[in-house]
Amino acid sequence: MDALLEIMRKRRSIRKYTGEHVSEEDLKKILQAGLLAPTGKNLKSAEFVVVRDRETLDKLADSRSIGAATLKGADAAIIVIGFSQIQDVWTEDCSIALTQMHLMAASLGVGSVWIQSRLRQSAVAGKSTDEYLHELLGIPADYCCEGILSLGMPDEAKDAYDLPDPAADARVHAGKFDSTNYDKIRLFGG
Ligand SMILES: Cc1cc2nc3c(=O)[nH]c(=O)nc-3n(C[C@H](O)[C@H](O)[C@H](O)COP(=O)(O)O)c2cc1C
Repeated sequence: MDALLEIMRKRRSIRKYTGEHVSEEDLKKILQAGLLAPTGKNLKSAEFVVVRDRETLDKLADSRSIGAATLKGADAAIIVIGFSQIQDVWTEDCSIALTQMHLMAASLGVGSVWIQSRLRQSAVAGKSTDEYLHELLGIPADYCCEGILSLGMPDEAKDAYDLPDPAADARVHAGKFDSTNYDKIRLFGG
């Protein structure tokens, strides 16, 4: 079976970690996967803040009111930020980089999960996640925060997905939009 497809089938969001160290070698490969990601007009708007110290990782958990508690147990985090001054599609650039790093981590046996930053609120009343991260990490105002890749050695095992069959999957429309699927899935929840 195709090696990349197999990694994608087995990739899962891992939120529980053993506390064991993610090696510098693995972290380097994960960052390489992010740096290799394609960007609109090749502007390379995505940048990466790598955090390994416990105090900052704990503070990162408060970057969200809910949904970021896993960072309390993480060994490392990569905050993906986009230089929005030069790039209108910075969010796409950052999302692809995050995805490639998430997949690379999975292929190395390192657990990871995407923690959303854009359009979210921090645990501090009235402060957005974006504002919180700018302050905590000293990020200049002309960058926007897309998300955080939380990393650690896995302390949970999740089932791989079955290989989907595009011909039998209602999300795939042949030739034109099939409204049978819309009525069935989107309006009435399948
Ligand atoms: C755009 C995006 C935002 C996400 N935000 C969070 C988040 O803030 N916290 C979290 O624990 N998981 C988050 N996730 C992980 C999803 O919950 C997870 O991918 C989904 O439930 C499917 O599970 P799987 O990744 O194991 O296949 C996010 C994933 C994506 C793609």
